[in-house]
Amino acid sequence: MRQAGRSLPEYRAVRGEGSINDAIANPDLATEITLQPIRRYGVDAAILYSDIVTPAHAIGFGLDVVPGIGPVVEKPFESSDDLARLRPLDPEADTPYVLETIDNLVAELDIPLIGFAGAPFTVASYLIEGRPSRTYQRTKALMKTHPDLWFALMDRLADLAITSLQSQVAHGAEAIQLFDSWAGALSAADYERYAMPSSAKVLETIGESGVPRIHFGVGTGELLGLMADAGADVVGVDWRIPLAEARTRVPADRALQGNLDPAILGAPWEIVRDEVDGVLASNDGHPGHIFNLGHGVQPDTDPTVLEKVVDHVHAYRSTS
Ligand code: CP3
Repeated sequence: MRQAGRSLPEYRAVRGEGSINDAIANPDLATEITLQPIRRYGVDAAILYSDIVTPAHAIGFGLDVVPGIGPVVEKPFESSDDLARLRPLDPEADTPYVLETIDNLVAELDIPLIGFAGAPFTVASYLIEGRPSRTYQRTKALMKTHPDLWFALMDRLADLAITSLQSQVAHGAEAIQLFDSWAGALSAADYERYAMPSSAKVLETIGESGVPRIHFGVGTGELLGLMADAGADVVGVDWRIPLAEARTRVPADRALQGNLDPAILGAPWEIVRDEVDGVLASNDGHPGHIFNLGHGVQPDTDPTVLEKVVDHVHAYRSTS
């Protein structure tokens, strides 16, 4: 899950003080940072070190990722004039460093590399709000007041995600994850109308390349069926509902990903272990399960607890 690396001392040692955009633009550094949690934890797949706002940054939308805050936009998206600031992405010219990082990783890894993109709704929320938001007021106002502009924006962001994902797959990413982290802010009806069509376009188009597609969001218990229908092979589940319940909400042929509460990792190991066992019990031996956290790793998480989690899950796998 996102930011497994940022709790690691070896990450802080190499990351430096600058913007994450600078670290992402340095392929040797981005390769090393992707590999750090693999070496430390022995997990079963690697996730590319990049960010969901990297393509928008690369085409010059004017945003930075501020440590401790997240993506911050200089001039937020307001009107149809701003569509011109979202030209198509040319991955080989605009993000050659991402592709070089993937080339390095594919040569080095003996486990699959997961590529990713931000879903149009979640990326739009950053571009419109200008910074992380709890209420998404501007985003919701724009989508309901100016639906034509909203759908034009969604379409640009879908194309940005598609082009980026296609280039990642062409360079050897073996699965992709579409992060619609903040889709849970929408009612099911609004998700279906305003967010789902553009995500479906991304998932359907990238599905043509044949790689498995993971579709993730937070607080999306009421949206899981729609997120599956959008074209996901794997649906991410946060910790708010048990996997057994999530399974009743998605078609039987889909896998689930999740769903240990990352905030529980601060508790003593016996408690963490019981929570991990609870996730595994709720999955009940179903073959379609990627064990994961329900969301990103908190920076103050003790890496030795995560080591134990991975070992415990692997031990379960080898006895069942
Ligand atoms: O685990 C990984 O490091 C994989 C690479 C990755 C990052 N961001 C690196 C990163 C991935 C897959 C992401 C996705 C991402 N970025 C999402 C979707 C996933 C999710 O968590 O819901 C979102 C919403 C973002 C936007 C973003 N970038 C936020 C909210 C932050 C946190 C700001 C902070 O410092 O608290 C970032 C910064 C960021 N992206 C870090 C990392 C490792 C934090 C540390 C740093 O700046 O070095």
